[in-house]
Amino acid sequence: MFDRVYSGRRVLVTGHTGFKGSWLVCWLSRLGAEVCGAALPMEEPAHYTLLRPPCKSVIGDIRESAALARIFREFQPEIVFHLAARPIVRLSYREPVETFEVNVMGTVNLLECCRKTPSVKSVVIVTTDKCYENPDTGVPFTESAPLGGHDPYSGSKAAAEIAVASYRRSFFEPEGRIFCATARAGNVIGGGDWAPDRLIPDMVRAAAQGRTAQLRNPDAIRPWQHVLEPLSGYLQLGAVLFQEKREFTGSWNFGPDPGDVLTVRQVAEAMHEEWEQMRFEEKAEAAPLHEAPRLVLDCAKARRELTWRPVWSSAEAIERTARWYRSFYESGCLDTADDLDSYLRTAQGKGLSWTK
Ligand SMILES: NC(=O)c1ccc[n+]([C@@H]2O[C@H](COP(=O)([O-])OP(=O)(O)OC[C@H]3O[C@@H](n4cnc5c(N)ncnc54)[C@H](O)[C@@H]3O)[C@@H](O)[C@H]2O)c1
Repeated sequence: MFDRVYSGRRVLVTGHTGFKGSWLVCWLSRLGAEVCGAALPMEEPAHYTLLRPPCKSVIGDIRESAALARIFREFQPEIVFHLAARPIVRLSYREPVETFEVNVMGTVNLLECCRKTPSVKSVVIVTTDKCYENPDTGVPFTESAPLGGHDPYSGSKAAAEIAVASYRRSFFEPEGRIFCATARAGNVIGGGDWAPDRLIPDMVRAAAQGRTAQLRNPDAIRPWQHVLEPLSGYLQLGAVLFQEKREFTGSWNFGPDPGDVLTVRQVAEAMHEEWEQMRFEEKAEAAPLHEAPRLVLDCAKARRELTWRPVWSSAEAIERTARWYRSFYESGCLDTADDLDSYLRTAQGKGLSWTK
């Protein structure tokens, strides 16, 4: 299905130099899409630099609307995946204004460019599972749960959701050309993430320097999944929207199976088992910033209507991730292509609809 839709299509990916973006560009290139990326300069090491995917790369700030409009004018995308964001909760406490500027006004600038570019048909806006008002009850969020957000990152993504809904109702639906959805995924893991203040990158950095990583919130529960899982959901959405299937506009959760949510401690222990150099200790902060203790997604809608489902369990995702970093640091190899091959084989074996 993906091959038929993406082959030869002009696809714009914002945030292509980031963790998810680099994997998405790699997958899209395999599908024969002509890809253009727009993002800020990379901080090395960067998965995108190591991969060197066949992708036109434009470096710029999505807050600069004129520069973004130029990219749209010159590339004339047909499908747009918007991933560019400031995605780190703790950074958002230090730099709330920049977080709201990039995550809200950056998204509005992008929506405006889509509206003014006649080639655009299908738009997938990536927000987050943190966009829900979280009373910490552990009840899984469905897509109709109230939006909210304690920290500036979560609040900015909830605000971006509202901006998208407004553009959809005010412009995209009445004009009938653009089909747009938002995607809310949980914590993703996988090789090639070196972002600060994330569990696995923090453990990997510490292991590479012979240090012991410190766990701030070992009991926090998160919907961990391999980065390829939400990407298969985003690609599915991009494809059905391109086929003008109006029923797929709206919001979609992508997360692990209900029995597959793990605490930070469980993930850290499993990573250590796979690569013993990844050591950790639990250390509470003196003045901790609020981070939600529980976050669980209800993904029944994506299962039912998109027939999307996870391909790998959390255990398999952790094993793949540890193996990726181990082979990168021990032998300089990139397992990205192997991981994608293996993921596609497993998905095919499970008969998932997007593989047909
Ligand atoms: N990684 C996760 O666990 C996770 C979970 C849920 C949602 N998300 C969402 O997925 C998306 C991608 O996340 P990621 O983990 O790949 O993040 P990342 O930090 O690895 O990548 C972010 C990308 O956005 C770009 N960017 C940031 N500010 C920009 C600006 N002002 N102008 C242009 N580009 C800019 C960066 O250059 C980079 O390419 C984000 O929208 C994030 O909120 C991520």
